[in-house]
Amino acid sequence: MKVYIAYESKYGNGKKCVEHLQTAIKKKGHNVEASPINEIKTDSLPPAELYIFSTPTHVGRPPRKMRKFLKKLEMGQEDAKYALMTTCMDYNTRSLEIMEDFLQPKKINKVSKGIKIKVGGIKGPLESSYQEKLDSFVEEIFANK
Ligand SMILES: Cc1cc2nc3c(=O)[nH]c(=O)nc-3n(C[C@H](O)[C@H](O)[C@H](O)COP(=O)(O)O)c2cc1C
Repeated sequence: MKVYIAYESKYGNGKKCVEHLQTAIKKKGHNVEASPINEIKTDSLPPAELYIFSTPTHVGRPPRKMRKFLKKLEMGQEDAKYALMTTCMDYNTRSLEIMEDFLQPKKINKVSKGIKIKVGGIKGPLESSYQEKLDSFVEEIFANK
């Protein structure tokens, strides 16, 4: 399967999670690519069967550039699936729900309840179990495919 990860990461914690996801997805024999959203054109998302969107939480929601990206995003395919990830200091973040609200009207279907990875402070570090959590996330995504 072809997987594409579009992410935003101000301090590199989300990027580190994306890198771990890439390794875990490759280990399962799938083809995976990742790009920061500022390198992606919203009207020509690379074709994939599964998209993962990853964002930090800023003031309780995804930063403006992620919201703008998801709002403008055009899905070229009928049957694409998606899963969401956020890094946050507080698990009560609504970033996943907010991202979902942007994607809901588009031709794309959710395959996971999504994942929240906690950071100890604004610049990190990631919670110690982040790799195990991401491995379970990957299992969940592919179990539902
Ligand atoms: C301007 C700003 C506002 C933030 N507000 C929140 C917040 O409301 N809730 C929260 O859980 N984390 C908040 N954070 C912490 C971010 O979640 C954290 O910086 C981010 O997850 C780190 O990921 P990154 O290294 O990929 O940027 C905020 C960070 C910044 C810079």
